[in-house]
Amino acid sequence: MKIHLQKAITIALTFLLFICFGGCSEKEKTPTESPPIIDADVTIDDTPETESEESEPEESEPEETEPPKPAHIGVERITLSKYSLTLLQGSNDMPIVTMHPTTATNKGEIWSSDNTDVATVNSIGKITAVGVGSCVVNVRSADNPNVFAEVKVTVTPYVAPKEPEVTYINGILIANKTYALPSTYNPGVDPVAKAALQNMFDAAKADGLNLFIRSGFRNYATQQRLYNNYVSRDGVAEADRYSARAGHSEHQTGLAFDINKADSSFEGSPEAIWLAANCHKYGFIIRYPAGKESITGYIYEPWHVRYLGIEVATDVYNSGLCLEEYLGITSVYQQ
Ligand code: DAL
Ligand code: ZN
Repeated sequence: MKIHLQKAITIALTFLLFICFGGCSEKEKTPTESPPIIDADVTIDDTPETESEESEPEESEPEETEPPKPAHIGVERITLSKYSLTLLQGSNDMPIVTMHPTTATNKGEIWSSDNTDVATVNSIGKITAVGVGSCVVNVRSADNPNVFAEVKVTVTPYVAPKEPEVTYINGILIANKTYALPSTYNPGVDPVAKAALQNMFDAAKADGLNLFIRSGFRNYATQQRLYNNYVSRDGVAEADRYSARAGHSEHQTGLAFDINKADSSFEGSPEAIWLAANCHKYGFIIRYPAGKESITGYIYEPWHVRYLGIEVATDVYNSGLCLEEYLGITSVYQQ
């Protein structure tokens, strides 16, 4: 009886197992319409994809770590391009600062002046001279306030450059590269020279030539504008050969005139030849003769006449000298 009961239990369990596992495996196999032809010896991985996905190791979130900070390099010393300055009142200067070591992490500068009535300094070290006296300007390291350097500043009074005086040599008013006129010298056309010029024009007319003023009196500002235009066009060196700087032009004396045409096409014309041969008779000279550029400072200008009065003009004409040679003076800019 006991054996029958055991048999019955075994059968029942076997049946249950068959229902459970046999059925289930059958269920898995049914969807395969045409079974894959596989070699029996080949082991295939039939692990469901989902399983393999699950089994992959999860990507771990990267830990939020900041990049390593470079080690702080402190400022140990400050050197300057200059430690003392003498400035004219109103002017400024800026010493160059070097923080050491040059690899220092923070090279910030803190500037101060111990007397802002004498000199002020801005945040980048530009020192401005305010009042006459002495003071000390200090630059401190923003990184290490114990480290600093100092500039001793001396401020001297500003003296406006003196206006030149009008120069007469042997009673002759001179305006050339050496001798300047004050900017305020503004006489207009000299009436005596203007009358002499008219006499000359009348004489030329009697000889069948038409002379006229191309350019007469020019004040300081007009000359400055003219000269600057020439410099823009030709550069300083070239402009200085044919145009006077402001204050240095004979046209500012009111005693000089350009006749007919102020360019090289006038050279050799009947008017130019007549002018060169006769102008002294009316008190004029050809002021910038040919071949005298190194003495007068200007190229040949056969059109530019200067009034000296008949006596002196005739003497200069007879000497064959230019006015600088005649008077023994130079015509050279100081700078
Ligand atoms: N052309 C002469 C030199 C002047 O500018 O006065
Ligand atoms: Zn001229």
